[in-house]
Amino acid sequence: LEADVLAQVAAAGDLSTLDAVRVAAVGKTGSISGLLKTLGAMSPEERKTQGAAINALRDKVQEAIAAKKAALEAAELDARLASETLDLSLPAPYRRKGSVHPTMQTMDEMISIFAEMGFAVAEGPDIEDDFHNFTALNFPEKHPAREMHDTFFFNPKESGERMLLRTHTSPVQVRTMVSQKPPIRIIAPGRTYRCDNDATHTPVFHQVEGLVIDKGIHMGHLKWTLETFLARFFETDAVTTQFRPHHFPFTEPSAEMDVQCDRSGGEIKIGQGTSWLEILGCGMVHPNVLRACGIDPDEYQGFAFGMGVDRLGMLKYGMPDLRDMWSSDVRWLSHYGFSA
Ligand code: PHE
Repeated sequence: LEADVLAQVAAAGDLSTLDAVRVAAVGKTGSISGLLKTLGAMSPEERKTQGAAINALRDKVQEAIAAKKAALEAAELDARLASETLDLSLPAPYRRKGSVHPTMQTMDEMISIFAEMGFAVAEGPDIEDDFHNFTALNFPEKHPAREMHDTFFFNPKESGERMLLRTHTSPVQVRTMVSQKPPIRIIAPGRTYRCDNDATHTPVFHQVEGLVIDKGIHMGHLKWTLETFLARFFETDAVTTQFRPHHFPFTEPSAEMDVQCDRSGGEIKIGQGTSWLEILGCGMVHPNVLRACGIDPDEYQGFAFGMGVDRLGMLKYGMPDLRDMWSSDVRWLSHYGFSA
């Protein structure tokens, strides 16, 4: 039996054959295991000598199997190493990498600058109701000011209420003031919607709203905040701005801020030239808005602003047409995109 089993072990050409040999010899019902079972019927003397012999046989066979197994495994590895060679001189396959969209890059930059200035980020829904988008912001009922925004309205609900796509991020001001006690210092970045479409207006655009409510807040705080932000954003102290009186129902006084730039060449250049480009609307929060949100205007004042993200991105990165932002043209995206 010994010679027979050892010959089988030596002849096994692969691991599964070797395992079959192992089971046939030392498995539960294997030939050597069978021999061990015959010990019970033997006399004590015989059992001693035969038991030692059978155990020695079993050990020898198991050793031979282990040695063969190691040899087979080594051979298998050698074969794999020989067949799976890696040619390090081959050129790597070309892979197109995605990039951060310029609008999102601009938004991230704006958020981190305001975060460093102590502003928290607030959010609101894109689908708004009339109250938050208009009424609480002091838009008179049935007033053409509501039409001035070229609003996208949804079909009226059964109640007659008409939901809409927010025309600005200002409703987040309302949501914040209703749910938080002053002092408040937030920005609200997000998408906004109006039925506009030309080189400087797209139907979907992005704004960053700002709101500060505290005691003794005045226009000086507003101007400092915006100028400090713009110097950081454009990475130069040479940004020249002007406040131009304007009207918003929700701020009084209201202003628009322009940046001085050079538009004589193809690209718009900040910090030089004689042109002015509007970048944001702002003002002191109207007492009616504070009242609508449960804040006493005799105790608290505040300022608010809303700036166009796409517009600021265009200015910073020198893009001529706002509509390109939505073109999904991979050549444009890889030219202006930012590595992730
Ligand atoms: N919501 C205004 C707009 O979209 C901008 C604005 C925000 C003006 C806050 C004043 C205060 O045009």
